[in-house]
Amino acid sequence: MNSKKIPLARPWVGTEELKNLERVLNRGWLTTGPEVKQFEEEFRSRIKAQHAIAVSSGTQALELALASLDLRPGEKVITPSYTFAAAPEVILRLGAQVVLVDADERDLNISIEKTREILERESGTVRAILPVHLAGHPVDIQGLDSLAEEFGLKIIEDAAHAYPTQVGPNWIGGQQNRPHLHTTCFSFYANKTLTTGEGGMITTEDEELAQRLRKLTLHGMEKNTWKRVQSKNQPSWEYEINERGFKANMSDLAAAVGLAQLEKAHRARELRTERAKQYLSLLSHRKDLILPPDVEGSSWHLFIIRLKREAFPNLMEKRNQVMTDLSEAGIETSLHYRPIHMHTYYKDLLKHQDGDFPVCFEGYQGAITLPLFAQMTEEEVERVVEELGKTLADYLPPHQR
Ligand SMILES: Cc1ncc(COP(=O)(O)O)c(C=O)c1O
Repeated sequence: MNSKKIPLARPWVGTEELKNLERVLNRGWLTTGPEVKQFEEEFRSRIKAQHAIAVSSGTQALELALASLDLRPGEKVITPSYTFAAAPEVILRLGAQVVLVDADERDLNISIEKTREILERESGTVRAILPVHLAGHPVDIQGLDSLAEEFGLKIIEDAAHAYPTQVGPNWIGGQQNRPHLHTTCFSFYANKTLTTGEGGMITTEDEELAQRLRKLTLHGMEKNTWKRVQSKNQPSWEYEINERGFKANMSDLAAAVGLAQLEKAHRARELRTERAKQYLSLLSHRKDLILPPDVEGSSWHLFIIRLKREAFPNLMEKRNQVMTDLSEAGIETSLHYRPIHMHTYYKDLLKHQDGDFPVCFEGYQGAITLPLFAQMTEEEVERVVEELGKTLADYLPPHQR
C-alpha cells in the first residue's frame, strides 16, 4: 500500500491566513468589526452582488434568510431530498412545513419536473423553494425561475457548494436579474471551497432586506457594538431592539481568514476544475460508472461518481465494499448524500418510504465522493483512479472487467 493518504478535501491555508490573523490579534478587536466589513465588501464585489451579510455558518445563513420571509405556521417550503440536513432543519425550526422533492437523474440536483407536479398538487400553500447547487453544479435556473414566476414563489438558494460558480456571465449569488430570487446562502465550513473554519454569507439585491438581515445576525440590534463604539453622536452603550433576532454574526478572526481565502478562491477553482477534468477523462471509458456532468462554470466542490446497478446488481453492498477498499488503500471517500427522507427523524415526521423518491434512492445507493481539492496533484488523481479500477475489477463479473 502507498503510505501517503489522500484526503477527501484539504483546506488551502498558509502564511496569508496567518498574516491576517496576526493583524486582527494585534488590533485587539476580535468580534464583528472592520475585517467583517471588508470581507463582505470584497465577497460582494467579486460576484457582483449588491449586498453581502457575513454570518456564523451556512446553516445560520439559511435560517436568517428563511426568517426574513416571515413564514406563517403551516406554510410550506420545497427542498430537495438529496441534500444536507441544514435546509429541512431550519424550515421546521421556523414553524413551516417541509415538502421534499426527488432529484434529476443527470446531476442529482432538484428535479424541476417533480417540483412542478408538487406545486400543481399543493396549490397556494407553498411559499418558497430552497434548492441546493449540489457539488457546485448550478440547478436549472431558468426552469426554477419560471416555476417561481408561475406559482408566485420566493427562491432561497443553498449555495453551500457553489462559491464560485458561474452561469454564463453571472455568478451564483450575484446580480442576475432574477426577480424571484430572495437570497443566496453560502457556507464557509472547514471542507468548503472557501473556508473560515465555520462561517457563511447571505447575498441579496434588496437593500431593505440586507439591512434587516444584518440586524437579525445580532439579536435584532439596530447597530452592532463596533458601529456603536465608532459613532461620535450617540452614547456607545445605547442600542435599540425592535425585532427578535439571532446570534449569528461572524467574528473578525473568521473574516480575516476569509479575506485571505478570497484572494485564492478563483485560482483554487481553476485547479479543482483541472483535476475534475482529469478524472472525467481517465474514467470516461468506464461503462460501470455514472460520472458527474462536465458543467462549465461549476465550482467543482465535490466529485460524485455513481456505480451502475446493471454492473453491480447488489449496488449498496458493492458501493460500501469499494469505499472500504479505497480507505484501506489510503484514499478517503465520502457519501453525498443519504437523502433526507431516508433519515429516521424525517422519515417518521414526513411519513416517507425509502422508495418515494426513486432517483434519490438509487443515487444514494451507488454514490461515492472521490477526493478533490485545489492542491491535489495529477499523480494523486491517477492513484485514485488506479485504486478505484482495481477494487471495481474485484466486484465485476469476469466478462465486464
Ligand atoms: C448543502 C449544504 N447546505 C448547508 C450546509 C450547512 O453549512 P454549515 O456547516 O456552514 O452550517 C452544508 C454544510 O456542509 C451543506 O453541505
